[in-house]
Amino acid sequence: MTKAFATAIAKKFPNSVRLSIHPSAETTKLSISLTPQVGACTMTPWHSSLVRSVDGSIQMSHALRVPALTHELIYEDGRPSYFREKSELFNWPGMDLEFKYMYPCGILIIPRDRNSRYSLHNVHMQKVRKLAEICSPIVLRGFTDTTDRRTFIAKAHDAGEVLPWTFGVLQEVKDAGRKDRMANNVVSSEAMPMHYDGMFKFVKKVDENGNETSVSAPPRFQYFTAKTPSPTGSGYTLFASSRLFFQYLPKPYTVEEISKVTWDCKNSGFWDNHMTNLPLVVPHPSNGMPCVRWHEPWPVWKTKFAHCIISIENASQDIIPLVDSLLYDRRVCLYFTWEKGDILVNDNFAMLHTRTAFEGESDRELWRIHFD
Ligand SMILES: [Fe+2]
Repeated sequence: MTKAFATAIAKKFPNSVRLSIHPSAETTKLSISLTPQVGACTMTPWHSSLVRSVDGSIQMSHALRVPALTHELIYEDGRPSYFREKSELFNWPGMDLEFKYMYPCGILIIPRDRNSRYSLHNVHMQKVRKLAEICSPIVLRGFTDTTDRRTFIAKAHDAGEVLPWTFGVLQEVKDAGRKDRMANNVVSSEAMPMHYDGMFKFVKKVDENGNETSVSAPPRFQYFTAKTPSPTGSGYTLFASSRLFFQYLPKPYTVEEISKVTWDCKNSGFWDNHMTNLPLVVPHPSNGMPCVRWHEPWPVWKTKFAHCIISIENASQDIIPLVDSLLYDRRVCLYFTWEKGDILVNDNFAMLHTRTAFEGESDRELWRIHFD
């Protein structure tokens, strides 16, 4: 019956491409998975249940095969929705919360009763930190006291070792209104290149020969609060996940091959610097997972501030567009819209990030703290 149907369709539409949710080796049929599951698409969504790991990755399974010992059924809008791996990280005593997975990465945590007034003051920051290592970014929405400066800073100390920089502990990320090349693009309304924080933060270290050297010291985490809402439709913060980058790395590239690549970065203006022998992949400091370390090339025509020239040192320059396109791929990168009062914690090793441009003169303002 299925075969007869396929033949009829092929006859009726000889020049059309056929889409199917079933795996297939046929040259005239494209197999597309309806859910972003890990591995091959082997089960149809209406014959299976969705099973999530804490890190957000999805597999499909018959409901009866999902072990009750390790997974729990999650209800959304009063209806059974999916099975989620059990974890103490979802247990926040005294707070009744919903943990909503965002696409393609990150978890939004909101009070189940929107009228609840849970204070940031009472949030267990070590749980937020652990969740951020597994499924960044972690967003707390609908909590109180999130834009209270003292509470915000105090909770950073609960999360880890707070790292000051030239601006102190807390950076106010907003458009400073400067237009000259020597200004810092972070405090402008321009789009920014995909990057990790702290690439240009240097600390003195003594090497094995007793010589003092200056080394780049990226922080482990970024912690934000949205002091204001962002203008609608602009000023997104983009978060690209290394786990998803490697999940969708196209053939013939492999993690092993990519891990050998090093790159060179020449930066002008505010970030004036020349760095060499930068590894494209580094192991995550907690779990050893491969993490992409990258600064997107930022030519002079894209910015009125510092520009940045990137080259690959030991492989084809084709790696540059490959990395750039995959980092902005919607399967890999979350386009996050801020709401006023959002708290966000992001793992600066597991993720890269950037910002899209926003309307200048708007009062978009985030506060940011780095911690280890
Ligand atoms: Fe940044």
